[in-house]
Amino acid sequence: MAANFKNPVIRWIDHRLPVFSYLHHEANEYPTPKNLSYWWNFGSLAGFMLLVMIVSGIFLAMQYTPHVDHAFNSVERIMRDVNYGWLLRYIHMNGASMFFIVVYIHIFRGLYYGSYKAPRELLWQIGVVILLLMMATAFMGYVLPWGQMSFWGATVITNLFSAIPWVGDSIVTLLWGGFSVDNPTLNRFFSLHYLLPFVILGVVMLHVVALHRFGSNNPIGIDTKGPQDTIPFHPYYTVKDLFGLGVFLIFYAYWVFYAPVTLGDPVNFVPANPLSTPEHIVPEWYFLPFYAILRSIPDKLMGVIAMFAAIAVLFILPWLDRSPVRSGAYRPAFKLFFWMLVFDCAILTICGKHAPDWIWSPFSFSIAPDTGQAGISIISMGQLATTYYFAYFLVILPLLSIFEKTKPVPLSISRPVLGAGGAHASIAQAPQQMEKF
Ligand code: HEM
Repeated sequence: MAANFKNPVIRWIDHRLPVFSYLHHEANEYPTPKNLSYWWNFGSLAGFMLLVMIVSGIFLAMQYTPHVDHAFNSVERIMRDVNYGWLLRYIHMNGASMFFIVVYIHIFRGLYYGSYKAPRELLWQIGVVILLLMMATAFMGYVLPWGQMSFWGATVITNLFSAIPWVGDSIVTLLWGGFSVDNPTLNRFFSLHYLLPFVILGVVMLHVVALHRFGSNNPIGIDTKGPQDTIPFHPYYTVKDLFGLGVFLIFYAYWVFYAPVTLGDPVNFVPANPLSTPEHIVPEWYFLPFYAILRSIPDKLMGVIAMFAAIAVLFILPWLDRSPVRSGAYRPAFKLFFWMLVFDCAILTICGKHAPDWIWSPFSFSIAPDTGQAGISIISMGQLATTYYFAYFLVILPLLSIFEKTKPVPLSISRPVLGAGGAHASIAQAPQQMEKF
């Protein structure tokens, strides 16, 4: 319904192109659960980071040269000679890490509170598509400075496709635009790295449309039952989101100004050299869990399949977890396994970071090259962690859906919020609280 705007110009435009009515509806009238916690700030933070990455990337591209003979030097020039070029680059470089931190928290929030459950399955799946696009974009962006790790990382990862039977080698040649990672590869990666963020932007819009179809889930995980359970998005959550943004900017600024290269790999400050392989090829931190899964399977093709399956399993998650209770707050057993998953992902990250033949020693609590001391190898640790990762989604969640004894959920959001949380719905009522298709 068209809103009644006071400003005549806005009224004139809105009558013909109702964008203001749309925004007004989304921001002012959009009823939002009154109990959203700070974990619900991370969606808007992800949106903010996407914009920061696009704007800083556009300005970097004005000074960058996508050619194997010039790429490394053009980045050095940005750092030394372009006015505030260092700032732009550090914002973009560390921005990638901030973007992944924010999105990973956003995903784990969804996992804990069951935000992937009906009726938000498609919203969740669109999120998984965004994650895949983000990964592709970050991977190609890392190749652009044409350092040693750019070159060898690109070589290792693109080579994985050669494991696909029959068509693998042709796919790799197609990706490279030739018979090795070279100028055509750098050129196409630059082109796609510029394009994909705009595709992500489009998919994020779909994500928000899907979100607004049923509104946000909330920490209790039950549906809103009327005006007593909701507040308008503006000003309540606009202010809360802005506060969160302020805190996040302090964190982001710390990395940009005080530790700008800490999250990266020093090897990438050496120009790419196809004739000299670095001793240890490691991806950026946000790919490490997937890298550990890849390495934990001895067969190359199976390793690649497991790595992609680690994301693919998220696509079918809404149908693996059939528990009628959404929020982890009312699922004691789920809660335990969820935190074990968080720990498991940290272990996978550590495994991905270290050379496969290193050893973790529980006595000295350190990871070091294998000198015959007692301990567990990085590969075995990775294999255990990979097993738990898949077991969580494919075995534990389906079993919990059947056997878990959940706690009683409140009848409505306003009751516990207003301090009168005494009345509880029995678990038998929970299924009716979820949308059925
Ligand atoms: C560029 C990346 C992304 C952006 C900009 C984004 C944006 C948002 C925003 C603004 C919200 C509403 C606020 C909130 O609930 O935090 C939201 C909700 C949600 N997002 Fe994302 N998102 C992104 C990536 C993802 C990914 C990768 C997933 C999952 C794999 C995902 C799953 C969800 C779900 C399930 C909700 C509903 C949460 C709830 O209501 O409890 N999003 N997203």
